[in-house]
Amino acid sequence: MAAKKKVVFLTGAGMSAESGISTFRDAGGLWEQYPVMQVASHTGWLQDPDLVTRFYNERRRQLFNTQPCGGHKLVAAMEQDYDVVVITQNVDDLHERAGSTRVIHLHGELCKVCSSRDVENPRYWQTLGPDNCEVTPGTKAADGSLLRPYIVFFEEAVPMIAPAAEQVGKADILVIIGTSLNVYPAAGLINYTQSGTPIYLIDPKDVSVPYGLSVTHIKAGATEGMKQLMEILNKS
Ligand code: APR
Repeated sequence: MAAKKKVVFLTGAGMSAESGISTFRDAGGLWEQYPVMQVASHTGWLQDPDLVTRFYNERRRQLFNTQPCGGHKLVAAMEQDYDVVVITQNVDDLHERAGSTRVIHLHGELCKVCSSRDVENPRYWQTLGPDNCEVTPGTKAADGSLLRPYIVFFEEAVPMIAPAAEQVGKADILVIIGTSLNVYPAAGLINYTQSGTPIYLIDPKDVSVPYGLSVTHIKAGATEGMKQLMEILNKS
C-alpha cells in the first residue's frame, strides 16, 4: 500500500465566507465595521478589554449560528485518500465541525478563553460552547488575571508558526483557500514548500503570490473550487 500523499491546506476567512461569516478585507468586511487596532491588537486589549471582550462575544454568538460549508466538508473528505493537515488563520471551529482531524490554528480559537497573564498555559484555558458563549467583561481567569479571548492579537507572536512551516515543508501538495495573503507570518508559509511542490490557490479573486512560485489559481469560491481541485487530483 503506497503511503498517502501529504496535502497541506492554508485557509483564511474566505474558507468560511460560504458559511455566512464575513471576511476581513472584502467590501463590507469585518475591518470595515470595526477599528481593527481597537478590537484585535494587544494595545487595543490593554486600552479597553471590555470592548474587546464584547467584540469576541459577538463573533462567538455568530459562530454558533453557522454551519460548515461544502468547502469545509470536502477538505475533511480529502482525509480518506490523503494525509491531510489544515493550517488555518481562522479562529472558528468549522474545519473541526466538518470532520477535519488535524487543524493548526495560527491565530487562536474563538471557542477558547485564557489567562491574560499566561496565555499559553492550558491550566487557565476554558472552552465556550453554544450555551455559554459570552464572557462578562471583567471576569477573571483562575490566576486572577482578566480572562481574555485565546486569539493571537496583532502585535503578538504566532506560537504555531514553526509547526505550521514544518508541515508545509513536508507537503506533496499545498492548497491555499480564501486568504488574501496579506498578514505575516501566515502569508509567508507559501515560501516553505519544497521547490516544485504543486501549489493550488482557490479564490474568486486574484491574489498576489511571491514571484517565482508556480501556482495554479482555481478562480472560484471554496466549495466549487474544492470540487474542481478534487477532479484535478483524481486525474493526476
Ligand atoms: N471562497 C473562497 N475565497 C473567498 C470567498 C469564497 N466564497 N469569498 C472571499 N474570498 C477570498 C477573498 O477574495 C480574499 O482573498 O477570501 C480572502 C479573504 O481575505 P481576508 O479578508 O484578508 O482574510 P484573511 O486572508 O484570512 O486575513 C488574514 O488577517 O485580520 C487578520 O487575523 C485576521 O486571520 C486574519 C488575517
